[in-house]
Amino acid sequence: MDKIIIRGGRRLSGSIPVSGAKNSALTLLPCALLTEEPLTLRNLPRLADVDGFQHLLNQFGVSTSIAGTRPEDFGRVMTLQATRLTSTTAPYELVRKMRASILVLGPLLGRAGEATVSLPGGCAIGNRPIDLHLKALEAFGAQIELAAGYVRAVAPDGGLPGGTYTFPVVSVGATENALMAAVLAKGTCRLHNAAREPEIVDLCNLLVAMGGQIEGIGTSDLTIHGVNRLHGATYQVMPDRIEAGSYACAAAITGGEVELRGARMNEMDATVAALREAGVFVEDRPSGLFVAAQGPLRPVTLSTAPYPGFATDMQAQLMALLTRAEGTSVLTETIFENRYMHVPELTRMGARIETKGRTAIVHGVAGLNGAEVMATDLRASMSLVIAGLAAEGVTTVHRLYHLDRGYERLEEKFALLGADIERVGSD
Ligand code: EPU
Repeated sequence: MDKIIIRGGRRLSGSIPVSGAKNSALTLLPCALLTEEPLTLRNLPRLADVDGFQHLLNQFGVSTSIAGTRPEDFGRVMTLQATRLTSTTAPYELVRKMRASILVLGPLLGRAGEATVSLPGGCAIGNRPIDLHLKALEAFGAQIELAAGYVRAVAPDGGLPGGTYTFPVVSVGATENALMAAVLAKGTCRLHNAAREPEIVDLCNLLVAMGGQIEGIGTSDLTIHGVNRLHGATYQVMPDRIEAGSYACAAAITGGEVELRGARMNEMDATVAALREAGVFVEDRPSGLFVAAQGPLRPVTLSTAPYPGFATDMQAQLMALLTRAEGTSVLTETIFENRYMHVPELTRMGARIETKGRTAIVHGVAGLNGAEVMATDLRASMSLVIAGLAAEGVTTVHRLYHLDRGYERLEEKFALLGADIERVGSD
């Protein structure tokens, strides 16, 4: 298995393009199931999770083709066409590998009136149930059955009658599944306390481009008037705000300055506020986000929260940055119960962090040291890379497949910024 070797201590500087957003791509791809016409997605990041989703969609009879982008380009253009669905079952082998596979449930139900999807089970960052996905679909009139590790959803008389659902907690995935089912409902569907992450807005914008009727886009109250059919579209995946935030932390911890081309500051308010509180200079420029270290890092206290709050997907990377702050930071993780896997690894690199339940207390240290580290999820892995870039000596990050799931050509981007980083195959 590949690993990344970082010789820390180099100041990052330069300009890199921000890739298409992973979590947007993973909800835009299943929209291909909603129409027999072609859907073309531009700026699709080259990621293992996107390849996995493509493979999953092929199982339902969706044809996929990738336009002639050059290997050196970031992003790809993919055209997907579900002229006829040949299956409405997502098997365990595929769903197990990629949790986001659950996002085929809503569109299959909307288009075919039925879907059978393996339950995804837990993952490294927590239990991650899908009860809210099912409750929202049920509220719209779906009949749901659970048997032998699978969920089967059926729309009576071939189409969902519609209804209203109020989420007890905000769920990105459940909001996405509900939206994709509702656009082809017979009646009107309403969602309250829906997620309003920029990726949800991206999904709504694509659905509207395909002929969907959605009111309240960007708010937590969505009204979806079902239509008989959707048509094809060409759509550009939004820039990855989490990738941009991750590189911003990397630049800041090395005392560097980077331009993140294409990043949209208005979708990153909470991250930008945290960086500024930490003493980092951040500027919105026409070309993207400019981030520069300025003087010592300051401690930060914050809690993760649904958008527009501070994203749980940025917690590990910010924590890596704050290991070097002058003072004590307090981070509280409110979204997932087990999202501190990076803490023991950062500690091995010389960080001083205590966790008490969902709170991590980070006592800033003067320096980090390189070490052999590994993490069991994507963002935790990125936090180790960030720490490694600032550490003295060599850091080896194992289990690279996590990073490959979510960061497009990470070592190339860091190398463009002047980092001493290489990918090697393990013995
Ligand atoms: N939840 C339930 N029941 C449900 C669904 C969610 O109790 O049916 C709970 C979860 O256990 C969690 C909270 O609600 O405590 C929020 O989970 P959410 O459904 O919003 O998460 P998700 O849709 O499974 C997406 C991203 C995650 C990101 C979260 C939160 C994708 C593919 N994944 O997951 O991204 O952390 O939203 O913003 O969009 C990552 O990119 O590293 C990543 C994990």
